Amino acid sequence: MMSQALREARRYEEAAGNRIKEEERPAFHLSVRTGWMNDPNGFSYYDGAYHLFYQYYPYECQWNFMHWGHAVSKDLLHWEYLPAALAPDQGYDRDGCFSGSALTLPDGRQLLMYTGVSKEKPGNGGGERQTQCLAVGNGLDYEKYEKNPVITAADLPEGCSAKDFRDPKMWQREDGSYRCVVGNRAADGSGQILLFQSRDGFAWEYKSVLASSRNRFGKMWECPDFFKLGEAWVLLLSPQEMLPEGPYYNGNGTLCLIGDFDEETETFIKRQDQPIDCGIDFYAAQTMQAPDGRRIMVGWMQNWDACDFQPDALWFGQMSLPRELSVKDGKLYQKPVRELENLRCGKLKYEDVSFSGEIELDGISGRRVDMELSVRPEDGMECYRKLEIQVAKNKQYHTSLCFLPEESLLTVDRTFSGSRKAVIHQRSSRVNSENGNLKLRILLDRYSMEVFVNDGEQAMTTVIYTDQEADGISFAANGTVHMDIVKYNLV
Ligand code: FRU
Repeated sequence: MMSQALREARRYEEAAGNRIKEEERPAFHLSVRTGWMNDPNGFSYYDGAYHLFYQYYPYECQWNFMHWGHAVSKDLLHWEYLPAALAPDQGYDRDGCFSGSALTLPDGRQLLMYTGVSKEKPGNGGGERQTQCLAVGNGLDYEKYEKNPVITAADLPEGCSAKDFRDPKMWQREDGSYRCVVGNRAADGSGQILLFQSRDGFAWEYKSVLASSRNRFGKMWECPDFFKLGEAWVLLLSPQEMLPEGPYYNGNGTLCLIGDFDEETETFIKRQDQPIDCGIDFYAAQTMQAPDGRRIMVGWMQNWDACDFQPDALWFGQMSLPRELSVKDGKLYQKPVRELENLRCGKLKYEDVSFSGEIELDGISGRRVDMELSVRPEDGMECYRKLEIQVAKNKQYHTSLCFLPEESLLTVDRTFSGSRKAVIHQRSSRVNSENGNLKLRILLDRYSMEVFVNDGEQAMTTVIYTDQEADGISFAANGTVHMDIVKYNLV
């Protein structure tokens, strides 16, 4: 029987969601049906469609008692809302159904695993418990497992936190058995990832500490994901309380560890690390394997340190574009899913544009755009000193992408992009560039800009709030820049 809380949420979201006009949302990014969205959950392919669930509070544009929202898509770009999948309606999850994952059982049902949150006392006073719980369903309706919770603090070794124990990501191994990784805090307060095993997906037991932070890369590690990609093993994490170091910033960050997996001890051996996304708005990434074998990642296109709730908005929260992952030379590469190419139209191509000062180019404008740029210095001339690309631009607004070749520094700046809040509006990242050569792919979808550097070697993502009338694009060079552009509208 469906709980009152879920029935209520389903009734509410349908009415409220219909009040939001299509053109007030991104066109090919999933945005929340109504109210608040954070992490992607249960990203999977089930019964002929991609399923994407998400952390959801339908009633307000604010984080609150977490539900799971639900949407499906055939192409990862056009999403259809389904009714909310989970509501916090049991003793063990009454304070929230936190993040988790999905897989398909041998009998064809879909299994969800999520974190159930319950506090001893309401508010912040009482101890909070986080346990891992299951729900089984048919792609539309889900029933919580009668033996929930299936993993609790009692299953953990000495010293593991019972409060910070969340975000299970499950997968099935070739031998048919199951594994899941869960974020946790060790006795010293730093993050660690615990590995669990199961023969049937329902009865779980503790296996090992897969990886630990030992106070590097932030404190609590949220939203782990672990998979093999080519020859490498990849551990994706969203650490809290990062200290700035190398390419990492303070606060909530994204982290990709690349290394090996020791099958004997079931532990991870880290070789390399890198941020997943060096922009402003990206967090809690989750992946799935598509039927054709691609490893596809989606992230919450926000970050706790940069949230700007717009007071009159009817929705808050969108997902990044799903991105195809690969590892080359020990580095994670990401590219927007190839399905995006089917949305391209109105191709415009400029070759060998040479300029200094500011220019605009005929036909290069818009807010749903896919634009590839290849820039270099003018032959035989000294390297330019600066290149700035401004998008979502009119007299009042612009979002800027600025490249300084001498320092190989790429900066996104959304100070003039409609936000009225003093949250983070600027981020810089070192990029690989020799003599001012750089490749950029810039994607705009009404309320965001995603930048892919050097064929996916780095990504920089930012949400913008700019009025849609601001649709200009300009280029400005200090020195002489030589560039090729291919630009499409995305419809
Ligand atoms: C990450 C996170 C998760 C948690 C969820 C709660 O953004 O804090 O660790 O499951 O959000 O909404």
